[in-house]
Amino acid sequence: MLPAYTLAVLLLATFSSANVLPALPGLSEHTAIKVRSNLLQIATHSWELGTAAQALTELNASSLSVFSPFTLPPPTRLDDRLNASASDVINIATNIVRALPVDSKVLVDGDGAVGDPASLGVAVLLANWTRTNLSDSSFSVAASQQLNHLLYVAPRNANGAISHREDQVQLWADFVYMAPPFIAYYGALSTGDTSQSIDLLQEAYDQCRLYRDILRDADAGLWKHIVLGSGEQDLTHWGTGNAWAAAGMLRVLETIRHSRVSSQFEAQKGNLTLWIDEIVGSAWKHQASQSHERFLRSCVNIYSSQQTNGTLLNVLDDPRSFADSSSTALLAAATFRLASITRDFSHVLPATRAFQLIQQSLDSDGWLLNTVDPLTFNTPSAPGVHSPEGQAFVLLLESAWRDLVASSII
Ligand SMILES: *[C@@H]1O[C@H](CO)[C@@H](O)[C@H](O)[C@H]1NC(C)=O
Ligand SMILES: *[C@@H]1O[C@H](CO)[C@@H](O)[C@H](O)[C@H]1NC(C)=O
Ligand SMILES: *[C@@H]1O[C@H](CO)[C@@H](O)[C@H](O)[C@H]1NC(C)=O
Ligand SMILES: *[C@@H]1O[C@H](CO)[C@@H](O)[C@H](O)[C@H]1NC(C)=O
Ligand SMILES: *[C@@H]1O[C@H](CO)[C@@H](O)[C@H](O)[C@H]1NC(C)=O
Ligand SMILES: *[C@@H]1O[C@H](CO)[C@@H](O)[C@H](O)[C@H]1NC(C)=O
Repeated sequence: MLPAYTLAVLLLATFSSANVLPALPGLSEHTAIKVRSNLLQIATHSWELGTAAQALTELNASSLSVFSPFTLPPPTRLDDRLNASASDVINIATNIVRALPVDSKVLVDGDGAVGDPASLGVAVLLANWTRTNLSDSSFSVAASQQLNHLLYVAPRNANGAISHREDQVQLWADFVYMAPPFIAYYGALSTGDTSQSIDLLQEAYDQCRLYRDILRDADAGLWKHIVLGSGEQDLTHWGTGNAWAAAGMLRVLETIRHSRVSSQFEAQKGNLTLWIDEIVGSAWKHQASQSHERFLRSCVNIYSSQQTNGTLLNVLDDPRSFADSSSTALLAAATFRLASITRDFSHVLPATRAFQLIQQSLDSDGWLLNTVDPLTFNTPSAPGVHSPEGQAFVLLLESAWRDLVASSII
């Protein structure tokens, strides 16, 4: 098999000025194992566990991810091999559901966040769907309570957007990765009730649309991070916020596309595709040292060129901001996923540079360096402190690259 080489050929065809492109390998098995084990060691917050579950699904149990070509829902019985490779994800869901207080209405304490606990919902639905003990309804009950809370209890903005916070209406770009993918997946699994299935897929789409209506800055093609409410807002074009939005919309798009009612959502799928493309295209415009020519030359001698290192900045369009590997990784992952769907490779080149940068930003123990502190949003992680979501983004990027390469073999 010559996957990276094949992609290089494909890129060569797309960018005809190229003489040579790197046969960019993905992460080594050795590195992926370390990144995964570090992730599992430090992911503790609700959204970190939810993102870890998604990353480990895409990496290890990819046929169960919404990015796989199979129609949803997934099989109810897993063969031994798939059961083993899905065990990371099922374990996360099982630990969450077993630890739930009896009367809990959400999957986990979200520290005041509406969206974050819902990020675990896809893993819980998958655990329910594939469980062997059919008299155990705990996963199903937990998922339905979480859905109910999102749809009928959490505060909403006047336009219908579900608040990311419990105590006031405040919209965070992060929400788009946390809640709409769960609402959509719930809908795709509602096979016994077609109208519920359609309603939930539509709701997931609408939440993306309504969030975009409020957060997007048309001039920049980028989204603000936090708006509305009495707490602190963050009106910057935060790299990770834009990455959450693009990657979350991708999961909704793929869930719709692989659902049994996909054909009823043509306009919605078209819009989601444009909205994801808008974010990734706008983000890569700010990648340090754009010149493709210079990139191609640097590929001949990959380590020779410092100024083309491929990073994005923490605030994408603020040159005073600092280099951030976390958002760079997730935006590259979203770019590869989008290209796999649309076969439009126009943003693949900058994302490939970014993947190279991410590989250079992993230390020998499998920790991602140069991350933003995910709790402050606006300072680098302190020396020696690592980003749980950054670790997950590396695995999402590796999986997206692997799948793009596999789907590009001609
Ligand atoms: C998950 O993927 C990693 C990296 O490819 C691999 O080393 C590991 O064995 C896989 N784990 C399972 C449970 O499949
Ligand atoms: C699936 O894997 C888990 C370990 O994660 C194991 O406990 C369980 O027995 C397996 N189920 C089946 C049906 O093999
Ligand atoms: C199956 O689930 C039921 C309901 O939660 C529980 O009472 C029973 O002990 C479980 N069976 C096994 C074999 O775990
Ligand atoms: C849980 O799985 C069962 C099939 O075993 C399915 O009928 C039910 O709808 C699922 N629950 C949810 C919330 O998807
Ligand atoms: C798609 O987006 C356009 C432009 O934002 C909007 O006018 C249209 O109503 C959207 N279509 C759907 C089905 O939401
Ligand atoms: C990439 O460049 C930025 C400065 O633009 C720097 O902070 C970062 O450390 C570099 N990354 C690597 C892996 O060299």
